[in-house]
Amino acid sequence: MTYSAPITEEALTGPEAGDLAARALQITKVYGSGDARVTALDGVTLGIPRGRFTAIMGPSGSGKSTLMHCMAGLDSIDSGRVLIGDVELNKLDDKRLTRLRRDKIGFIFQAFNLVPTLTALENITLPMDIAGRKPDKEWLDQVIDTVGLRPRLGHRPSELSGGQQQRVACARALASKPEIIFADEPTGNLDSRSGSEVLEFLRDSVRRMGQTIVMVTHDPAAAAYADEVIFLSDGRITDTMVEPTAVKVLERMKGFDLPGGGA
Ligand SMILES: Nc1ncnc2c1ncn2[C@@H]1O[C@H](COP(=O)(O)OP(=O)(O)OP(=O)(O)O)[C@@H](O)[C@H]1O
Ligand SMILES: [Mg+2]
Repeated sequence: MTYSAPITEEALTGPEAGDLAARALQITKVYGSGDARVTALDGVTLGIPRGRFTAIMGPSGSGKSTLMHCMAGLDSIDSGRVLIGDVELNKLDDKRLTRLRRDKIGFIFQAFNLVPTLTALENITLPMDIAGRKPDKEWLDQVIDTVGLRPRLGHRPSELSGGQQQRVACARALASKPEIIFADEPTGNLDSRSGSEVLEFLRDSVRRMGQTIVMVTHDPAAAAYADEVIFLSDGRITDTMVEPTAVKVLERMKGFDLPGGGA
């Protein structure tokens, strides 16, 4: 069974729903009003299976980032429901939402968002330090080795390559063992070699550590690392693909407007 749309809300809330790390049920998100009104998400229903790598693709402006932000509780929705595990985000007050985001959700942005004055290791453990939590040493070691950053732990971001910086950002998201990681074009500004390093790392963390990852990408080769691809267009899910390959994804995209000339 695939969990992405077209799928009914019942299928995602019933006993046959299986193990879902996150769910969006008929969510809508509207920005602006009057002439400036944009429906960024227009009734999106999907489930993110636990321990799997899911890619989200679609033309520029189709609502991919909005979907990530709404599912990660970084932005509010106008209707529908978002659940992380069995917790419904709209039912939480600000304090609980902040805590849930901190404890259960990892986010990798396209800009690395590293603190320039801290070392790689300090950046990786920063969210846990802020939360007053002690990192699980064994797990942290495993993450650092998987990410291949052990020889660079004492370096500051300016002393690291783009790919290494992005791997620090990935390790930071993984270090606290979040239930789910949302990544918005994590390889968008990396050269293809650094990009593949990051993608291999993300895929390994799913295979070896059972991490759940949702990743937005424009790149069919990047999407091919995922177990399943969900295609968005105009704020709606238009298609899904299991066991994607770059060729299959590219073929499917020919029917869509390619963002930035297909970059
Ligand atoms: N803060 C905002 N205010 C108004 N409109 C917004 C805002 N954020 C996004 N939008 C609009 O919502 C739609 C979806 O935007 P979104 O950023 O989710 O697209 P995207 O699929 O991530 O695109 P890209 O591939 O270019 O990153 C777009 O039409 C965009 O202009
Ligand atoms: Mg975007």
